[in-house]
Amino acid sequence: MRKRIFSGIQPSGKLHIGNYLGAIKNWIGLQDEYDCVWGIVDYHSMTIPYDPEGMEGRVIDCAATYLAAGLDPKKCVLMIQSKVKEHTELTWILNTVTPVSWLERVPTFKDKSKRFKDNINMGLMDYPTLMAADIILYKAHAVPVGEDQLPHLELTREIVRRFNNTFGDLFPEPKAIIQKGALIRGLDGQAKMSKSLNNCLYIDDTPEEIWKKLSVAVTDPQRIRKTDPGDPEVCNLFSLHQLFSTDEQIAYCAEGCRTAGIGCLQCKKILSENIAQELTPIREEKQKLLNNMSYIKDVLTEGIAHSQKIASKTIEEVYEKIGTNYKFMK
Ligand code: TRP
Repeated sequence: MRKRIFSGIQPSGKLHIGNYLGAIKNWIGLQDEYDCVWGIVDYHSMTIPYDPEGMEGRVIDCAATYLAAGLDPKKCVLMIQSKVKEHTELTWILNTVTPVSWLERVPTFKDKSKRFKDNINMGLMDYPTLMAADIILYKAHAVPVGEDQLPHLELTREIVRRFNNTFGDLFPEPKAIIQKGALIRGLDGQAKMSKSLNNCLYIDDTPEEIWKKLSVAVTDPQRIRKTDPGDPEVCNLFSLHQLFSTDEQIAYCAEGCRTAGIGCLQCKKILSENIAQELTPIREEKQKLLNNMSYIKDVLTEGIAHSQKIASKTIEEVYEKIGTNYKFMK
């Protein structure tokens, strides 16, 4: 039997190439090897201020992107977290074995508590417990994630150990599959690519938009004139070259940069064309899919039904362990 993996993306806005390179693109290669469940984790996206009216559109957008990028519903399961109620039910149960102190020291909680001072809600703090429930509900053996998610996964493993020790062995401890390209910096070269920082290339961007953004994107800050030699290792865009360009192009740009043989604009032109070449078919396919809503609906309905089956079985086992499988009610 193939080992199962689970991962998900929050439908918190348009997906950018950080989501694509750090998650979806890597998932495509895992579909043949593992029994995959890919979630659209809408309840996670409620932990910071959000627009309820736009939720449906964001979920549809996320599903269309998954499909357009190459996640194949014949090979994997696509689902919506809130539609399988066992995710939240199991979260409650896991809450009872999760010390508050563990959640307080999670880096994303500390960071978001600072950014959203007026809304430090229990959900924000409990975010990793819901994530643990997402993963272990399917008894996933592994979880493909970016490095920034490692503290969450470590917490999942601790919660699993606590649960198994308290109630008896039930869940495997999930391992991380670290994804390359998972830490994509924004076009400002400063922070992680993030919609709220306005430093993104979106999967939906047209070749013109890609070029417009790249042409003003930060490169090696020391390289001011075209005649100054640069250092590809500190150029933020060079890291994108390594993900989108051919070996020859990478070598050509690195050499050209070091010797001031080519200017940043020339280098950006090559990168821009390569990114456009990779994203255009996805953008076009996504547009087609969005005109075929019944297909998207069918894929998700089927994925949710499949997930539900696994979830129902797991939760029954959980009831048995925690003592709420009341025989007198049978
Ligand atoms: N926290 C993840 C992120 O923001 C999203 C997520 C939620 C997730 N549940 C998950 C990832 C379960 C992997 C497994 O990227």
